[in-house]
Amino acid sequence: MSKVVLITGVSAGFGRHTATLLAQKGYKVYGTCRSGCEHDPLVQVINMDVTDVQAVRNGINTILEREGRIDILINNAGVHTGGAIEVYPYEDIKLQMDTNFMGVIHTIKAVLPAMRGQGSGTIINISSIGGLMGLPFMGYYSACKFALEGLSESLRLELRQFNIRVIVINPGDFQTKNTSTRKNVFSSPNIDAYEHQFRKSLAVIEREENNGWTPEILAQKIYRILEKKKPAYRYIIGSWKQKTAVRLKYLIPEPWFAAILRNHYDIR
Ligand SMILES: NC(=O)c1ccc[n+]([C@@H]2O[C@H](COP(=O)([O-])OP(=O)(O)OC[C@H]3O[C@@H](n4cnc5c(N)ncnc54)[C@H](OP(=O)(O)O)[C@@H]3O)[C@@H](O)[C@H]2O)c1
Repeated sequence: MSKVVLITGVSAGFGRHTATLLAQKGYKVYGTCRSGCEHDPLVQVINMDVTDVQAVRNGINTILEREGRIDILINNAGVHTGGAIEVYPYEDIKLQMDTNFMGVIHTIKAVLPAMRGQGSGTIINISSIGGLMGLPFMGYYSACKFALEGLSESLRLELRQFNIRVIVINPGDFQTKNTSTRKNVFSSPNIDAYEHQFRKSLAVIEREENNGWTPEILAQKIYRILEKKKPAYRYIIGSWKQKTAVRLKYLIPEPWFAAILRNHYDIR
């Protein structure tokens, strides 16, 4: 019997490629879009905004009515914000947290009764390398991914008794539409003190994303993880430099690591 997978945010990027690949590999794939999106005919599209708890419950109930189970949940939908912590507007901070953090909570709470009933399940949370280190001018993005890290660690312990596995994926830089759709805020009506530095750091961030790996690579990795008998808890998927940075954070004194980040993001 094909495993039933739910992936949030399949209109683009990782979600789109992962949905297509898993469907081609024989999984029964449901993917969410906010408004009607064209997709591979093998992928069944459910309209769902992850910030809307009722829409999430309705979407997941629809899948459960049709399939009777959900074996794998991939929490992928996300937005990206850029700007200094002092100037970033509250409404956008809220949208960032509501999408990348609360959205994950809504889907997890909605699938768990079914997964507990089945006595099995896999939840993959797409975090980020930004969830392992606070990145400059992406403070709110990093904050919601750090929150997701804490949530995932706790969830992993709580769900073991029900044979439900939690996996965290930390991608590095990939070429997706997140670069063009990231909402960058350079100044507020009263504060323009960060603009010059943010523009310099943003040039580094965008250069790395534009030279990053393609989302197909991440989709392939997710497929291989799902096929493993005993997958690990965490997968960091990025260049050797990014993987080294994650290790260094725990190995070298904090001021040295901060200096490396300042140098990398052209912060003088
Ligand atoms: N690309 C990278 O370098 C990178 C690195 C680390 C982590 N990530 C993480 O990977 C995940 C996917 O990002 P991506 O790079 O593939 O970005 P993307 O190409 O911008 O795709 C984001 C997806 O999320 C959906 N989405 C956004 N807000 C939503 C909402 N409220 N409800 C439902 N769906 C919503 C989008 O749908 P719409 O078309 O409706 O907007 C889109 O399908 C995110 O969690 C992101 O933080 C990405």
